[in-house]
Amino acid sequence: MTGTTTHEVAPSAARLTGSLRDIGYDFPTAVADLVDNSIAAGASRINVFTHFEPNGSYVLISDDGAGMSESELIEALRFGTRRTYATNELGRFGLGLKTGSFSQCRRLTVVTRTSMKQRVIRVMTLDLNRIAKTDRWDITANETSPAIDRAKAILRESPGTVVVWEDLDRVLPERYAENGWGRRRLRSLASKTAEHLAMVFHRFIAGDVPGRTEVIICVDEEKLRPWDPFAPGEVERKVLPEQVFEVDTMEGTSEVRFRGVVLPARDRFSSIEEFERLSGPLKWNRQQGLYVYRANRLVQHGGWSGLRGIDEHMKLARAAIDFDTDLDEAFQINVAKMSVDLPPAVRKMLERPVQELCVLADDAYRRSANSGGRSPSATKASRVSETALRDVSIAIKAAMLEGNSLPEFRAAMERLREHNPDLARLLNL
Ligand SMILES: Nc1ncnc2c1ncn2[C@@H]1O[C@H](COP(=O)(O)OP(=O)(O)OP(=O)(O)O)[C@@H](O)[C@H]1O
Ligand SMILES: [Mg+2]
Repeated sequence: MTGTTTHEVAPSAARLTGSLRDIGYDFPTAVADLVDNSIAAGASRINVFTHFEPNGSYVLISDDGAGMSESELIEALRFGTRRTYATNELGRFGLGLKTGSFSQCRRLTVVTRTSMKQRVIRVMTLDLNRIAKTDRWDITANETSPAIDRAKAILRESPGTVVVWEDLDRVLPERYAENGWGRRRLRSLASKTAEHLAMVFHRFIAGDVPGRTEVIICVDEEKLRPWDPFAPGEVERKVLPEQVFEVDTMEGTSEVRFRGVVLPARDRFSSIEEFERLSGPLKWNRQQGLYVYRANRLVQHGGWSGLRGIDEHMKLARAAIDFDTDLDEAFQINVAKMSVDLPPAVRKMLERPVQELCVLADDAYRRSANSGGRSPSATKASRVSETALRDVSIAIKAAMLEGNSLPEFRAAMERLREHNPDLARLLNL
């Protein structure tokens, strides 16, 4: 069309950086987004330090990964870093470093050094106070502060990258920044972060990621022990055979892998301490369900994604779902890497395996001494017999599942439903 003109309307730096602070992170998930970057940079050791000091508190996340050249460092601080990604790299949006950091603080500094031969330690800062004043996307080199000095001291010992958060306005609002409440809050956030990282990166910490040596993560000097929701050390757990589904992508197809596990009930766990530990951050009931891994990093921990509701009887049921980054769009991964939506095709494919897993989990729960699932005190005979019948049907289903005879069982039940619908209803089939 003739006469068309274009106008560049670059976003207002001051306004956009302000609004990007609130896209759904909390302290542990923001730190996890930075740990993603360290892992993507090949780090084998990552340290999170929190430091409380009246009006001078800071957080450091250091790694011994590849570090960045000057141009890479400048690009890293751009909202929407320009770069490409290999399959199963943890990054995707070019945002996490900035959005994760500014969800918690007003001043982000990246300190980096690529090798021992590289004498210069590079320091670049992105400061929300400056952006608010200038309304420009400027970064500044070689700022100094006690936190930045500490970061440089770390890199003098060994190369890598240290991310520095200062002016922690979201973590320690002004009136708390210098008192005991602030100190306790920072300590409690550090311990929640330790718990979150131990869960989200458990495969990396345990050395379970093919082609990668184990990653050591420490929070305030404490080395994290992996929290694996599937309790690999428990002999009484039941692991169901893995199922693999093909899902269409723009370029072809990709695999989604499903593996259900029935955890042992309390009285069959190796110890009460282990049972309590495996309960997880949200405790047994709310930790039942699906654990979705994107390139081996956990992006959803528990819940049934709408496939069914949380149910006390299913609390021993957990299942891993694995997908590769070529399915990011199908799973609608968000910037904070904290939630996914199961694609409709996957949802459909999972219906049956999830139901089968829940039957087995229900059976394990009812058989346990501590379940409280039966109600021996129920007075009405009819209620007792209905409960008993349901237990019988679950036990039969579970036995058939274990013997891989479910198709035959389903066919028999179909006939029973035709011939004796009342009994089939009582059996809850
Ligand atoms: N610790 C680090 N070591 C080396 N390079 C890093 C590190 N942190 C960030 N980078 C570089 O900075 C870039 C921008 O990081 P950022 O987290 O903002 O985006 P991303 O990781 O590419 O994508 P996403 O928004 O999904 O996290 C990264 O792609 C990487 O090249
Ligand atoms: Mg990132």
